[in-house]
Amino acid sequence: MAAKILIVDDDTSLRRVLEYNLQEEGYEVLAAASGEEGLRLFAAHSPALVITDLKMPGISGFQLLETVKKQSPETLVIVITAFGAIETAVEAMKLGAYDYITKPFNRDALKLVVRKAVEHRGLSQENLRLKAELTERADFHNIIGISRGVAKVLDVVRKVADSDATVLITGESGTGKELVAKALHVASSRRSAPFVAINCAAIPRDLLESELFGHLKGAFTGAVRDKQGKFQQADGGTLFLDEVGELPVELQPKLLRALQEREVEPVGGSVVQKLDVRVVAATNSDLEEAIVAGTFREDLYYRLAVIPVHLPPLRERREDIPLLLRHFAVKHGGAGVTFAPEALAVLQAYVWPGNIRELENMVERLLLMRNGDIIRVDELSDKIRVGKSGKGTGVLNLPAEGYSLEQLEREIVLEALERTGWNQTAAARFLRIPRHVLIYRMEKYDIKPQERKK
Ligand SMILES: Nc1ncnc2c1ncn2[C@@H]1O[C@H](COP(=O)(O)OP(=O)(O)OP(=O)(O)O)[C@@H](O)[C@H]1O
Ligand SMILES: [Mg+2]
Repeated sequence: MAAKILIVDDDTSLRRVLEYNLQEEGYEVLAAASGEEGLRLFAAHSPALVITDLKMPGISGFQLLETVKKQSPETLVIVITAFGAIETAVEAMKLGAYDYITKPFNRDALKLVVRKAVEHRGLSQENLRLKAELTERADFHNIIGISRGVAKVLDVVRKVADSDATVLITGESGTGKELVAKALHVASSRRSAPFVAINCAAIPRDLLESELFGHLKGAFTGAVRDKQGKFQQADGGTLFLDEVGELPVELQPKLLRALQEREVEPVGGSVVQKLDVRVVAATNSDLEEAIVAGTFREDLYYRLAVIPVHLPPLRERREDIPLLLRHFAVKHGGAGVTFAPEALAVLQAYVWPGNIRELENMVERLLLMRNGDIIRVDELSDKIRVGKSGKGTGVLNLPAEGYSLEQLEREIVLEALERTGWNQTAAARFLRIPRHVLIYRMEKYDIKPQERKK
């Protein structure tokens, strides 16, 4: 599709020459004889590019430039200046003009400047499109996974994103709690308001209250001016309370009140501020245990956990591992990299105590250290290759009274299936046998998916 260009110049002959030259280049050209007419055509046709003379009676080129940039920042404006009046061109550039041409102009120079602008505009349109697509993906699609565990999480995110209900995300370190919190924000209609995160474990106890709720000038020594807390900063948006289990008991009633009444009281004053904040909290500790131990208030727990979301550890969703490996390989510049089957089997069997964060770091390291585009098992770290799965069956500690080889084989097949999320291809790879042999063994020992744990 031809780019649309608007020419604004009160000089009729110059306007005609421009029009002719640009039409010859295949552009769709609109022409206006004054700033007023220019703005009218601009509003009606939204051209990609505006070429305007600066000195015109009535609305000047400068005014036109400012209006166009204000209404449509992505529209490019090229200004026409008299030869020798370079300072006006500089002034126009400061106001956001993309480039300038001097008159009398050279036809080739004109065409070049315009082509460059149209291409630039095409590229920035493309960037805008990619950005929009990424934002859309950020809704949920950058949460990678095909496991039931991830599907369940995505389902909840989809359903509750746009409500104001408090969400409590639980899961081990590195399982994606913050990622889910952001997905909730981006999928909600609060997406253009701030997402503010605070890690309750990282802030010294005596500063936490003011960090959360703000303080008034003079509230304590050193409080020389009013300060907004995270709650105020998140007004209209989402507040992510990370490691909420670490919130000191004495601050818990205040948080409870903020959640219940939707109002906060900055330190050092009796003013109450009404706020519109959606709270998402996360913890990797067991809050129910903390309640029993008396370090977490039960009423606060129920307030936070209106919508509970649990992120299972990676070792319980091993079927996501190949997808995650691929995702992070692409993310870290290794789009052409693949994993040899044996390496994949080892990675899929590893226990991943640091969960997805550990996996991402490992991929980054492997990409840097790799010898070629296929990652082989000997490139994996010893830790991963030795692969203590953490739930070994212990069958090799054979009991003193002896053990049936068939039983042993059955357990090994079961373990391979468990470790690979019951993916037969991966389990066969893990056992270094063809898939049909695995299926044969499964039939022989009557191993059925119903035996799958949990
Ligand atoms: N399902 C997923 N798909 C893609 N990337 C993920 C997924 N889960 C986690 N990640 C990535 O793994 C890293 C760790 O995730 P995140 O910081 O959300 O974990 P966390 O649960 O908040 O960990 P911690 O408790 O240690 O703070 C991030 O870089 C995140 O983008
Ligand atoms: Mg986190």
